[in-house]
Amino acid sequence: MSRVVLGRATPSQTLRAWCIRVLGTAGRQGPALRRYRASALQCISCAETWPFWRLCRTRETIVAVPPVAPINSNPRLRFGDCLTEVPELRRQFGPFQLAYMDPPFNAGGTRRARQTKGERATGTHAYVDYWGGLDDFLAMLRPRLQVVYEALGPQGSLWLHLDHRAIHDCKVLLDEIFGRSHFAGEIIWVPGNGGKRRNGPSVTHQTILIYAKGDTLIWNGDDPSLREPFADTSLKMHFKNVDSAGRQFRERVINGKSYRYYADAGRRIGSVWLDCPAMSANTPLTNETTGYPTQKPESLLERIVRAATLPGGAVLDPMHGSGTTLAVACRLGRNYAGSDQSSVAHAIATARIAAVHAAQTAAKERAAS
Ligand SMILES: C[S@@+](CC[C@H](N)C(=O)[O-])C[C@H]1O[C@@H](n2cnc3c(N)ncnc32)[C@H](O)[C@@H]1O
Repeated sequence: MSRVVLGRATPSQTLRAWCIRVLGTAGRQGPALRRYRASALQCISCAETWPFWRLCRTRETIVAVPPVAPINSNPRLRFGDCLTEVPELRRQFGPFQLAYMDPPFNAGGTRRARQTKGERATGTHAYVDYWGGLDDFLAMLRPRLQVVYEALGPQGSLWLHLDHRAIHDCKVLLDEIFGRSHFAGEIIWVPGNGGKRRNGPSVTHQTILIYAKGDTLIWNGDDPSLREPFADTSLKMHFKNVDSAGRQFRERVINGKSYRYYADAGRRIGSVWLDCPAMSANTPLTNETTGYPTQKPESLLERIVRAATLPGGAVLDPMHGSGTTLAVACRLGRNYAGSDQSSVAHAIATARIAAVHAAQTAAKERAAS
């Protein structure tokens, strides 16, 4: 990847302040800098990369990396239509324990990526979300869902993320592909930024359908990310026992069998997820934001990956966008693979995952020294 040195921060300046000053005014500083407005920034010293305006927090020289990363420089990230790329990924890295698929929502129009602190509406073209109608949208999805189905292992699951515009039609589609009895449930995700409507019900949630490939799916219900604290009243009323290790618990007998619940383990969360705000992925104020349109928050994907995969298991995102699923999977010690037909998505995800690998290598080196 060719790099261009942009400059060095003065000792009194944080790198963030430096980059905001330079990139924020790039439009006025002529073509030389404007070229780099959509670039990933890379720190020469620590080699970490921040797509768009995400910055190194040290005071180091930085370089700009052109926005389009070499195509397929990471064999686990394929640039192209998932219809043809997923069978190849399956051959090399499958079968997969989890496939998370977050297609365009059939909302109409095109989606643009934010550059530096600019508006999405005027940013780089990222992908088209127009199919000429629901039937054409479903006709596009059907064969792609089929290749994803085939890429799953026997205990694998597909999580399909859409909104009210197409989710019900896709439920019927998935019933046909997976079999109705393999519908494992749905998550109502409340991003916290939905549109309030005057002339009808507001739309403040999106839906994730979960389908199992076989009769059972990997489900780590005891993972802390799938737990929440018991209500205070419940703790006071029911958790009156303390075991020899000092842990507070309650015991319940259900159908003649005794069950013990520990207060510190928390209770299982429900199917309405309010605690993974979209804002953390979409505001230029957070580190995880890449500027890619409809980027999902890492907290949402972390819970999904933890719920449905085992350490070392393989995770597929056939329409990876900014690479949220894959970056999280990599960070959690899973194998990852994905595809996207947008060159902007491919470049951002490649840089984002390179940053995760670089951070992991640096952590290993620190631990070894
Ligand atoms: C909603 S975005 C995904 C956002 C992603 N989950 C994230 O967190 O950044 C949908 C993505 O699907 C991609 N896409 C659409 N059709 C595709 C296809 N046939 N094959 C691969 N990618 C496709 C688009 O380029 C776009 O990046």
